Amino acid sequence: MTKKILILPGDGIGPEIVAEAVKVLAALREGYGLDIEMEEALVGGAAIDAVGNPLPEETLRLARASDAVLLGAVGGPKWEPLDISVRPEKGLLGLRAGLGLFANLRPAILYPQLADASTLRPEVVSGLDILIVRELTGGIYFGQPRGIRILDDGERQGLNTLVYRESEIRRICRVAFEIAMKRGKRVCSVDKANVLECTELWRQVAVETAQAFPEIELSHMYVDNAAMQLVRRPKQFDVIVTDNMFGDILSDEASMLTGSIGMLPSASLNETGKGMYEPIHGSAPDIAGQGIANPLATILSVAMMLRYTLDQPALADRVEAAVRGVLDAGLRTPDIYSPGNQRVGTAVIGDAVARALG
Ligand code: IPM
Ligand code: MG
Repeated sequence: MTKKILILPGDGIGPEIVAEAVKVLAALREGYGLDIEMEEALVGGAAIDAVGNPLPEETLRLARASDAVLLGAVGGPKWEPLDISVRPEKGLLGLRAGLGLFANLRPAILYPQLADASTLRPEVVSGLDILIVRELTGGIYFGQPRGIRILDDGERQGLNTLVYRESEIRRICRVAFEIAMKRGKRVCSVDKANVLECTELWRQVAVETAQAFPEIELSHMYVDNAAMQLVRRPKQFDVIVTDNMFGDILSDEASMLTGSIGMLPSASLNETGKGMYEPIHGSAPDIAGQGIANPLATILSVAMMLRYTLDQPALADRVEAAVRGVLDAGLRTPDIYSPGNQRVGTAVIGDAVARALG
């Protein structure tokens, strides 16, 4: 049956990188019989400009009706003066909540061709293959009450709430354990259980959930130590499972181990395996419109879509092999450029990957 893919280019470099990922999807449709239909809609700042809402009803409706969503990026300085409740980021958070995308998978893989693009020594990062499993629809991002209020004495007070039900913790731990079973069978649960009761519960539920996975080696780490260990000895990790905010921060940190945040894809899945796929980087307004953004994170997000939602693991392998082939050929956008390679733009990389599919 034809699978429906909703394309949400968004803001900044979003439209440029998504265009290259769409080339790859189109090549798979023409050349490999991938049975998909694609439709495009508005999200983020682009949607604010067009219809005054970062997540138009129509976009949410189309997203619910599709099998998978491919998103570029949202946000930019133009919309920063807006109230936080109507900023472009609300479009993204609304999609995550509206589609129930609680499980965010963020792999950090070092491509050997890019070993010298990392700011860490090659022996620290070579062969790196970590997966961060981030809870995505709960925690402090969504907890109530929230806001900025005025106290009786007239002083302003900012307020957010870190809250997790045990069922929310259990389901994300289960996702992490199931994926770890197909990898190194080691899961490190990251919390701040020495200070925050909410994450004390997180640790308890992680331990309880692990009982159904006797082969998994579960360890625990406080988030401050995890942040340190990630740069000290990153290869000690296989799968990391953590809450929404810690996962946000640690995944940015992990991305830099691999040389460029422009290389890292992500998948956000709900209970039924439906997913939204997006690069983990942002809209990079400083380089938008110049045709130099790295489209590989978005193209690798297509590979994740093929694997997790479209049930096409062979095509996913093919896309990842094509990306490696393009790196082998020495083609580099500026963010991953090093001497001896060829500095090229966004579209050259996209075309080369589409061609390298075979
Ligand atoms: C991410 C981003 C988002 C987040 C922003 C854009 C709302 O940083 O996907 O990591 O904080 O989750
Ligand atoms: Mg982030």
